[in-house]
Amino acid sequence: MKKRMPAASDSAIEQKINELLGKMTPEEKAGQLHQTHKSCCSYEDMMAMVRKGRVGSILLWGMPTGRADDERENAVNEIQRIAVEESRLGTPILFGLDVIHGLRTVFPIPLGLAAGWSRDAALATASIAAAETASAGIRWTFTPMVDISRDPRWGRIAESFGEDPYLCSELAFAAVRGYQGEKLGAPDKIAACVKHFAGYGAAVGGRDHTNSNISERALRDIYLPSFRAAVKAGVATVMTAFNDIDGIPCTVSKYLLKDVLREEWGFDGFVVTDFQCIDYLRLQGIAADKAEAAEMAIKSGIDMDMVSGCFNDHLVQLVGKGAVPVEELDRAVRNVLRIKFRVGLFERPYADFNLAGKIILCENHKKVALEAAEKSLVLLRNENHLLPLSPDIKRIAVMGPLSESRSELLGCWNPAGRSEDVITVAEGVKSVVSPGTTVFTGGGGFEDTLLTTSSKADAVILVVGEHPLRSGEGRDITSLTLPAGQEELIRRVHNCGIPVILVVMAGRQLDLSWAAEHIPAIVYAWHPGTMGGQAIANVLFGKVNPSGKTPVTFPRTTGQIPLYYNCKRNIFGNPSNMQNYLEIARQGPLFPFGFGLSYTRFDYSNLSISPDTMTGNSGIVIAADITNAGEADGEEVVQLYVKDCIASVNRPVKELKGFDRVYLRRGETKTVKFKLNEVDLAFTRSDMSWGSEPGEFIIWVGPDSERGLQGSFVLK
Ligand code: NOJ
Repeated sequence: MKKRMPAASDSAIEQKINELLGKMTPEEKAGQLHQTHKSCCSYEDMMAMVRKGRVGSILLWGMPTGRADDERENAVNEIQRIAVEESRLGTPILFGLDVIHGLRTVFPIPLGLAAGWSRDAALATASIAAAETASAGIRWTFTPMVDISRDPRWGRIAESFGEDPYLCSELAFAAVRGYQGEKLGAPDKIAACVKHFAGYGAAVGGRDHTNSNISERALRDIYLPSFRAAVKAGVATVMTAFNDIDGIPCTVSKYLLKDVLREEWGFDGFVVTDFQCIDYLRLQGIAADKAEAAEMAIKSGIDMDMVSGCFNDHLVQLVGKGAVPVEELDRAVRNVLRIKFRVGLFERPYADFNLAGKIILCENHKKVALEAAEKSLVLLRNENHLLPLSPDIKRIAVMGPLSESRSELLGCWNPAGRSEDVITVAEGVKSVVSPGTTVFTGGGGFEDTLLTTSSKADAVILVVGEHPLRSGEGRDITSLTLPAGQEELIRRVHNCGIPVILVVMAGRQLDLSWAAEHIPAIVYAWHPGTMGGQAIANVLFGKVNPSGKTPVTFPRTTGQIPLYYNCKRNIFGNPSNMQNYLEIARQGPLFPFGFGLSYTRFDYSNLSISPDTMTGNSGIVIAADITNAGEADGEEVVQLYVKDCIASVNRPVKELKGFDRVYLRRGETKTVKFKLNEVDLAFTRSDMSWGSEPGEFIIWVGPDSERGLQGSFVLK
């Protein structure tokens, strides 16, 4: 693939870069590649380094940005003033912060966003996160995380878009566009950072920060497409992963950083390591000391050192003694400056607190957060149409450990959200029921009084799940069961004999096998953000028809992991090999990838494939009619899956290749069309070349990965 040439307007930027670079001392160059953090030194020492031009970026965690919209508590402008006015060249600092799912207006965690299967929501939430963050003077965020996550034991699955490369790629593209716009530079946009390059989600045993074993074929077919999508969307920066792949730490993988990212994909932004990664090369047994680690990293294609200090402490000397060519140093500085120029940092280095005060957590942002949360809710079970509840219900109990929680709804990675902004489930319910309804609330305890309360009510909404501290970075678990005591609570409440509506908030898919058999209604809510409680109430009482679909496979038990829908074909599913059928490991998932119910019924009919043969570059169109045959208006996520019947390598049993969200009034029918081209059928062939192979393909158009209308076509 050809390298992307800088666009016309980029040439002015390249000129500015050259001018600035020409004035820099080696120390100032190394400084541009250094990202510091409060764990590195005192604030005074940090400012002294800023003054000397020895800092290119600051990771704001733990710095006073928590109240990003409050001038008195945001240090950004003071630090920036020192950089711009007191350093020799006045090069502004690029502040970076993990605004993973919103700054003050907090959206569902990425896994929840993915459950919404909505490119529009991914774009809209990222745009708002960007606007709030930019107004606070922070022009760089470390998201989207696009690691394919097939293991729910891994805590960081919460930050991912789930297990599927196509869904993840589509959302990655939309998110990057949301943060950055079509072309970086608008005042309300910020630089995104796609991470963790690559294969971090394949951490052995779901244990964070371990290594990954990934074949080159799996890397190319499963783990890299979402990064490719982010680069296509124009992502400004890329973060390397902590892990190694087949022994090569990603931070020094020339294959990933040079061959794939720069040469094949034409990426022209900058590459930052993950936290301390250069120094970690010593722990990984790759470098003997920090100087050697710095030399290896810069030569492998790293541009910015997150926090380890190895670049700042050693690059000048390494260049001086000829161990690192000055061209490598200049290349990295150019890449960093390019993004500083593109994001508009030189024109607008400061926070605009006037603007921040107006836009942060404004009504429009909350509305988008509410809609995103509503879309993210997955109705997993609804026996005898228990839901939606009538707003006129006489007595409803809202209980369970998360029923009145606030900060917990914000999920992991929450740099600036505040608990007082959050609407609890109990508050949401109170806002939607009729004036005559009695709402019993009783907090999270296990006491008999709560059970009594529930036995007095006509129905109980029981809110359980994970505290956010049980998910996210380094928060891995060995069993997917609900936190201690919660299943027993569910059983006890169930024994009261009134209908139980279970709401589960979590950063991962949990083992719900008992509940799925006994509890009539289950809504999976992930960690839904600021407006989560309102969204849940709106769905439970039918103001909104649920439309989320799970972006991960729910296993029946932890021992089934890894369990994902797009597995390879094998003799395991052969009936002659199924004597041991009762063994749970051999059964399918509890809820398959793509699954989610609605209050209405969607019928699929009239599948057509035209033409039924794909030749050369001319694609085919797959169409199906979707009818809302139930009683309520609603949205359906229509999914297209493809199976390559015979190929030179063992290919997945099926792969998602398209999806569309369609709104249908009751009784309405719409035709949904998917275009499929030869390139959509490409994979890494037996000779390691990338392309498709002729032959028969089976397709399904349906509501999830297990059901759908089936057809086939031939690729000539
Ligand atoms: C480490 C995490 O792995 C990464 O995702 C994050 O962006 C950095 N810390 C910075 O906070």
